[in-house]
Amino acid sequence: MKTQVLTISSKNGTFTDRELKELQEAGEILKAGGLVAFPTETVYGLGGDALNPESSRKIYAAKGRPSDNPLIVHIYRIEDLEKVASDVTEDTRKLAEAFWPGPLTMILPKRPEIPGETTGGLDTVAVRMPSDPVAAKLIEYAGGFVAAPSANLSGKPSPTQAKYVIQDMDGRIDVIIDGGENQIGLESTIVDMTVNPPQVLRPGYITNEMIGNVLGLTVETDRAILAPDSGIAPKAPGMKYRHYAPKGALTVVEGSPEDVVAYINRAAKESRDSGEKVGIIATSENRDRHEADVILTAGIASDQNSIAHHLYSILREFDDENVTRIYSESFAKGHLSQAIMNRLLKAAGHSVVNA
Ligand code: TXA
Ligand code: MG
Repeated sequence: MKTQVLTISSKNGTFTDRELKELQEAGEILKAGGLVAFPTETVYGLGGDALNPESSRKIYAAKGRPSDNPLIVHIYRIEDLEKVASDVTEDTRKLAEAFWPGPLTMILPKRPEIPGETTGGLDTVAVRMPSDPVAAKLIEYAGGFVAAPSANLSGKPSPTQAKYVIQDMDGRIDVIIDGGENQIGLESTIVDMTVNPPQVLRPGYITNEMIGNVLGLTVETDRAILAPDSGIAPKAPGMKYRHYAPKGALTVVEGSPEDVVAYINRAAKESRDSGEKVGIIATSENRDRHEADVILTAGIASDQNSIAHHLYSILREFDDENVTRIYSESFAKGHLSQAIMNRLLKAAGHSVVNA
């Protein structure tokens, strides 16, 4: 299959005639059962018509993803929520009004019109209304309901730039829309609205505290996410896989900045002496204190937005450089620490040391 790449980078919601025409054509491709990768404010999505079981099957095939791992249905206006979910509670409405369009996905009981192929056979459905104007316009032109997982091959980091989508999906899908770098860089927060109180199944940019403040209660995260060694199965099926795995073995090093730098330098030297190509994920403030083959910085430690934004491209860059051993500083302090550490520790297969 020949994959067409379109460049549509409007971040302020205005489009040229050329861009609108191309978005409309991409929408028609989705309606006809084709696949289109598109930017969102979190990561790139791999879209198909959410109401067409054949489109969902094609998504799983293109990603090489197990078909018991359900997709997120993307909408472009709040009133369409009722067409996807069979029960929209007061709390659900409050969260939609507070955070949509934006990086929040809600798990709700599904309507019969949503095929089991889209929801991995579950009777619940994940729904999200993205804020990226390119995503919103594409969903509108596609008829309003676009199923989209992240646009990576299964097991790779979610793509945060079109070049990574091209790496993974060229020749496998109809269209890739290049909308530049995604603003946030980590996947949406998933909150399960079918339990009381609602529970976070995947941490993201919208924190438990932000959700709790809107609902006037305390929101907890699925225990399986916080204690990955507990043997409890995560409630979001996708969270059980060792996603985001770089080719090189990754170890996260915790402790005081002094101890972390000293530990990483010692371990990096040992690894290099034994023939490994070593990469380090560093904060900007410690960059010059490390020694390795490839040192990449995610931003200053206190700027969690920057760390979230850069994390996946760093993991991909190590793969491109064929790094075989990676050490990372820990990013466990700050408002996005739960989301960042969840992804980083998964990439590390939970290999953590205390310096
Ligand atoms: O930010 C995002 O959410 C991106 C962009 C493209 O919107 N999408 C994304 O999709 O990350 P994906 O497929 O990579 O992750 C969806 C997650 C999986 O862990 C899946 O198991 C979970 O959502 N999920 C979907 N439907 C569910 C359901 N009914 N119950 C529990 N978990 C569900
Ligand atoms: Mg994914």
